[in-house]
Amino acid sequence: MSTDTSRDAAALEALAGAAGPQPDRPDGPDLALGRPPGGTVWDDGRPTAQELGVVDWLLTTTRSNRKTLDLERPVEPEVIEECLRLALQAPTAHNDQRWHFVVVTDPAKRARIADVYARVWEQMTRGERRKVRRWKGANQDYDKVQDSANWLPEHLAEVPVLVIPCMVGPRHDNEMVVREWTRFMQQNGRAVGMTEPPSRMWLDAGYFASIYPAVWSFQLALRSRGLGSVVTVVHLAAERLVARELGLPESVVQTCLVPVAYVTKTTFQPAKRAPLETRLSWDHWQGTR
Ligand SMILES: Cc1cc2nc3c(=O)[nH]c(=O)nc-3n(C[C@H](O)[C@H](O)[C@H](O)COP(=O)(O)O)c2cc1C
Repeated sequence: MSTDTSRDAAALEALAGAAGPQPDRPDGPDLALGRPPGGTVWDDGRPTAQELGVVDWLLTTTRSNRKTLDLERPVEPEVIEECLRLALQAPTAHNDQRWHFVVVTDPAKRARIADVYARVWEQMTRGERRKVRRWKGANQDYDKVQDSANWLPEHLAEVPVLVIPCMVGPRHDNEMVVREWTRFMQQNGRAVGMTEPPSRMWLDAGYFASIYPAVWSFQLALRSRGLGSVVTVVHLAAERLVARELGLPESVVQTCLVPVAYVTKTTFQPAKRAPLETRLSWDHWQGTR
């Protein structure tokens, strides 16, 4: 994937056009992408090479932004809503759409949330800042990520928008739900000859996987509009402090915190990742095809 600035800018332009007029670009380009007039980009399942290029570019260059967040430039509420609207296209278990996105822009509230984040971060990392990388095969520049992660708590209050994706309703670890579900599964299990005790993974996976796809879509939509973000979970260790700050009812469960801002950099590139071959099995553990 090219990291050439002009290509990046052209692709950004194309993506911005795909979502219709932008707040700061009311006459954004029409994303025809080589199609006949009247053709739509999204609905015929036959992407052009150019469309594929744009999508692949987006998928391979959307990074976690911390130090590259522009702390000076205001973010229009409309662009946040537009990106969240796109995020609502993500799937959820049972299509139950239990999500709710709390957007925090009030400076005093941001400061108090940042304070919670910073204290938990300190609690988590105290004396461990130099700890060795646990996933040796990950091929990531660990020190660089750590440095960037250490920067965030110091500047989180200055990030113009903090988005907290929440789930509404019983928590995944709600004791009553787990007990009831386990009993229900055991009863049904006997009827269908299933002797294996039911695993709670089903509940946990269904819960978090019903919000993270939307979070990622939100990040992609932001990226395509020149904004950056990073998923964070640190503050969840003190989730109640933030819940109190925002007046969240018991039934509203925070799943992460996503700082959002325009980005200061104009070139993006794919991350170093462990090669697929080292992370792939076919048919049985570590089987090859
Ligand atoms: C579930 C999840 C939790 C994360 N939590 C944090 C966090 O609390 N603080 C932080 O600075 N980054 C956090 N990150 C960002 C990761 O550190 C980041 O995705 C990783 O370093 C890879 O960097 P890249 O996205 O730029 O490729 C989190 C990412 C995920 C997916």
